[in-house]
Amino acid sequence: MHTQKKRLVIAMTGATGAIYGVRMLQVLQQQADWESHLIISSAGLVNLKYELDMSRSDLYALADVTHGIDDIAASIASGSFKTAGVIIAPCSMKTLAAIAHGFGDNLISRSADVALKERRRVVIMPRETPLNLAHIRNMASVTEMGGIIFPPMPAFYNKSNSIMAMVDEGVGRVLDMFGVDVEGLFTPWKGL
Ligand SMILES: Cc1cc2nc3c(=O)[nH]c(=O)nc-3n(C[C@H](O)[C@H](O)[C@H](O)COP(=O)(O)O)c2cc1C
Repeated sequence: MHTQKKRLVIAMTGATGAIYGVRMLQVLQQQADWESHLIISSAGLVNLKYELDMSRSDLYALADVTHGIDDIAASIASGSFKTAGVIIAPCSMKTLAAIAHGFGDNLISRSADVALKERRRVVIMPRETPLNLAHIRNMASVTEMGGIIFPPMPAFYNKSNSIMAMVDEGVGRVLDMFGVDVEGLFTPWKGL
């Protein structure tokens, strides 16, 4: 019998922190029961090149299914296509604003809009500092709609000795929310 893999949408935008999206895809690649669906914005591609020296095809090789940012007829643009939800990592303030206002002008904001209306999990990793009031209000709106705001903020209590360990902790905590096996990505706090 054919069993459908669980699907998870990974969306990458032009905020700094392309490594978060890349690590999400790499972890999902190791999971036999998960199917990743990738979308990246044009600004996301610029940062992917600048920060990680990766091209679109390097990134696409990490995903099970890829979708064009303007392909508003893609499977994931419809609620009838079942997914576990959407992760936006990293999420720019522009895309956050679009999601907060239900402005589905591209496939990233549309897929988040769809997941929110279907009451599926949406985890946004917004990245900007400092924050203006519009940013804070938009995060509040997304939270009121049921989305989870998970800023990529490192924890220091794990005494990570590398940036990658800090990235993996964030990636692991987010994927854990979807029930992905995150063994080895971070050490849960066990008390002092
Ligand atoms: C190197 C670089 C770093 C950026 N970092 C951020 C950031 O951390 N947060 C943010 O909101 N925008 C950042 N931007 C600006 C966004 O890329 C820009 O607002 C873009 O329009 C976002 O579009 P998108 O959401 O469709 O990807 C950055 C741009 C560049 C070139």
